[in-house]
Amino acid sequence: MPLAAASDLVCPHDGLPLAVRGAGLACARGHTFDRAKEGYVNLLTVGDKASRDPGDSKEMVAARRRLLATGAYDGIAGALCDAVVRDLADRPASRPVPILDAGCGEGFYLDFLARHLAAHAGGREIRLAGIDISKWAVRAAAKRDTPAAWAVASNRRLPFAAGSIDMILCLFGFPVWEGFAAVQPVGGTVLMVDPGPDHLLELRAIIYPEVRRNERPPFVPVPGYVPGVEHAHRSTAHLPTAAVIADLLSMTPHAHRATQDGRARLAARASLDITIDVTVRTYTRAR
Ligand SMILES: C[S@@+](CC[C@H](N)C(=O)[O-])C[C@H]1O[C@@H](n2cnc3c(N)ncnc32)[C@H](O)[C@@H]1O
Ligand SMILES: [Zn+2]
Repeated sequence: MPLAAASDLVCPHDGLPLAVRGAGLACARGHTFDRAKEGYVNLLTVGDKASRDPGDSKEMVAARRRLLATGAYDGIAGALCDAVVRDLADRPASRPVPILDAGCGEGFYLDFLARHLAAHAGGREIRLAGIDISKWAVRAAAKRDTPAAWAVASNRRLPFAAGSIDMILCLFGFPVWEGFAAVQPVGGTVLMVDPGPDHLLELRAIIYPEVRRNERPPFVPVPGYVPGVEHAHRSTAHLPTAAVIADLLSMTPHAHRATQDGRARLAARASLDITIDVTVRTYTRAR
């Protein structure tokens, strides 16, 4: 069964390991962090924040939780699980494999993965952790019964020791490659899941006067990493009510871009069948 340990986390002020002290965590220099009643720790420092309440809002998190609970994105979670299992096959079974979801949102994908790995980790010990800059997202994630460590933190400065994270998952996220490189060993991987050209095509056709169909962007190298394999996942999802359609809109960047008319046209729909199209890409930490 996957397992997470508080000792995987380090102090955001000095990088020293955090150990359980009383109801929270503490480093050897005496920096202390309370554990929220949901079980997560907040390791975001004032310097990590660009605003008082960074990341996704409480409302966006709630909309994402409701939408993902309908199963509409289960195909994406399945594609992620396949990519993780492929990656695990190249790793020795003799030592634990730490996997971090960087920008974990309300925890849907890490939870799905934990259930999958319970049967498909090939006897490996997996350590799961999820971080997000939004305390609302991490609070929602920690309410799940996923065997994972949850923390509020930023991809810019991940609260993990250098070289300690074998696999980083970044779904619909904001990758910070220097931040990822700082915590990964050579041979560590980043699994990126991003929208493909046809993702939510039907929704876009309703809210925009004209749909721009971008090509799948090329697989470009990023600093400190070499590009590996790419898989495309395509499926369809049925959104059965106007409320579910509204939730999908709220959790995408289209929520900010749609015009009033576009929103009205979408709100008039009682149901919608949408195309799911994502690209799963692997990058490997280079020497
Ligand atoms: C589009 S959502 C995707 C959430 C989740 N991966 C999913 O697919 O359900 C992007 C997430 O990135 C978080 N985020 C934004 N900037 C971040 C940063 N610098 N570090 C960590 N998380 C960040 C937001 O709070 C939000 O939860
Ligand atoms: Zn400290």
